[in-house]
Amino acid sequence: MNSCIYPGSFDPVTNGHLDIIERAASIFDNVVVAVLNNPNKKAFFSVEERIELLRKTTVDFPNIEIDCFSGLLIDFVKRKDINVIIKGLRAVSDFEYEFQMALMNKKLSPKVETMFMMTSSKYSYISSSIIKEVATLNGCINGLVPKVVEEALFNKIK
Ligand code: COA
Repeated sequence: MNSCIYPGSFDPVTNGHLDIIERAASIFDNVVVAVLNNPNKKAFFSVEERIELLRKTTVDFPNIEIDCFSGLLIDFVKRKDINVIIKGLRAVSDFEYEFQMALMNKKLSPKVETMFMMTSSKYSYISSSIIKEVATLNGCINGLVPKVVEEALFNKIK
């Protein structure tokens, strides 16, 4: 089976992430969306909440699996016995950091490939942080995140 891993914090998942997930699901037999559990980073949503939101927003895709990991991504990739990491690139500014991570992951496990997809231009300016900031200040995030995420954000802010 042709599988890939799409890792990230997903705090929370946005339409930009879903754009990458859905396109990856049309190429690979199985896409594992891997939520990073990073105890050192203060998250807005718990890992369980982030997983739940991802599950709800990908429910129509039978070949998408949601999982979580802590520690090194490459160790998780090896445990899953998958050889492809998918990452999204939104702008040139993403490139340097992604390039560094891809090369380090290659050094740690030469048989694992990182593949990049360009995020759709209509989502190229969004990030989870900017969505949280606008929502916290009661701005409109309609069309940038799924409805269920919008509701979860405004419920938490209340
Ligand atoms: N649409 C919208 N936003 C996107 C996006 C897209 N297609 N792609 C990325 N983003 C946003 C994310 O929401 C995130 O926003 P935020 O900083 O406001 O939360 C930001 O861009 C960075 O995304 P990403 O590069 O995916 O970083 P991440 O923090 O979500 O995840 C890991 C990074 C998990 C892949 C990486 O830190 C990792 O592998 N960690 C494990 C430890 C490890 O192995 N370290 C060594 C690496 S070589």
